[in-house]
Amino acid sequence: MENSGHLLRCTGCARVIEQRELKENFRCPECGDLYEVVYPSWSAGMAEIRKPNASAMRWLWKERCCSNTEADQSGVWRFREMLHILDDEANIVSLREGNTPLYELRRVAESTGIEHVFAKHQGMNPTGSFKDAGMTTALSVAHELGFDWVACASTGNTSAAMSAYAARAGMRSLVLIPQGKIAWGKLSQAMDYGALTLQLRTDFDGCVRVLNEVVKRAPVYLLNSVNPYRLEGQKTPALEIAETFDWEVPDHLIVPGGNLANSSALGKAFLEMKHLGLVTKLPKISVIQAEGANPLYRSLLSNSGETLEPVEAHTRASAIRIGNPASWKKAVRVIQQTGGYCEQVSEAEIALAKAEIGAEGIGCEPASAVTLAGLKKLIQQGKVQSNEKVVLLLTGHTLKDSDYTIAYHRGDLLKEGEIKDLRPEIELTRRNAVELEASADEVLRELERVAVR
Ligand code: F0G
Repeated sequence: MENSGHLLRCTGCARVIEQRELKENFRCPECGDLYEVVYPSWSAGMAEIRKPNASAMRWLWKERCCSNTEADQSGVWRFREMLHILDDEANIVSLREGNTPLYELRRVAESTGIEHVFAKHQGMNPTGSFKDAGMTTALSVAHELGFDWVACASTGNTSAAMSAYAARAGMRSLVLIPQGKIAWGKLSQAMDYGALTLQLRTDFDGCVRVLNEVVKRAPVYLLNSVNPYRLEGQKTPALEIAETFDWEVPDHLIVPGGNLANSSALGKAFLEMKHLGLVTKLPKISVIQAEGANPLYRSLLSNSGETLEPVEAHTRASAIRIGNPASWKKAVRVIQQTGGYCEQVSEAEIALAKAEIGAEGIGCEPASAVTLAGLKKLIQQGKVQSNEKVVLLLTGHTLKDSDYTIAYHRGDLLKEGEIKDLRPEIELTRRNAVELEASADEVLRELERVAVR
């Protein structure tokens, strides 16, 4: 893989630039918008002179699963024809990310009346979240460009992923997180992987503001999702989904919405796959936000996504507690291009959905559970039909935020006023740990009590 030859196209004014012209904040100096990576020989709107052969790529990507090389064993880099962003493959920094499982959710299918519901579990990545897929690509670029320091503002998962990959590459990492507002599991990862972790007295949006200033004044490479190379890696779960279904795409893909890069990346992947003839149709891509952190939902409702009014974000799903999402325009485009929807869900709906995913033996972090809560809403509104194939994208592992899970099962998570008519379902899913004397009689009594319930 030499001389990648990729270019960057502004998603606002369509100006095409080379990698060396990118500004440190990854925004277009002309219009302030974000870039996307394009490939001169095959991307839509470019020369399209050397489109790769779809069947050959499908075969090659499968073959690589049996190979012993690091790049082939990565579920991201085995698709490298679709992310030709490095000049030299030796610069790849990988933790064998990707190749995540796609689980069928049989109980969810039964309770929702949808025949086929699947969970693509990106929480089964090396650092426990979907961020690894984009971190291996963007950090490898930073490595190739010779940076010593990388940095991100984060609600926790990006910082965990970035610090792990930086440590693998022998690079230094700077993490800005909102003080007291990220889950402990994620904070502990940044520390474990050796990042310089700074907890700022602000929210995520405030951390982003500060970091934008820092990257202007110091030679640190920004690894937030405004970095277009993150999105190239985050395309690969879409390729994996299509491959698992033998290149028949599902009808619907439902993703959580925070900073709104992931929906954009998955949309880009499906559009590119269709352009290259790897698939024949697009899934509807829908984005679900928490009610208290819903700027995209509001924007689409009030002005069809023309403008976005930032909000002060509040939700216990701390990963998506974001009021001013950087990639909102890209997300609007993907929803519109694929015919998807944007919905909002309440705290109680998120908590219940998380318990239901847990009860499938899979589990996920709260932000991921918005997908199931959103699916239920879309079904109620007649936007998903029972014979459609639906994939929920689970973004984080259940152990990321065990405080949330324990509080739910103890009954301490939700306030009275939040539960509303979900009380019966919530009561049914709660499984608090029971304290007993160390006696077989007591254990058997408890077993009997539960068995007759
Ligand atoms: N789910 C989880 C578990 C996340 O960590 C995030 C974002 C999202 C969903 C939303 O994805 O931003 O692409 O719309 N976490 C970022 C972070 C912001 O810093 O870890 P998005």
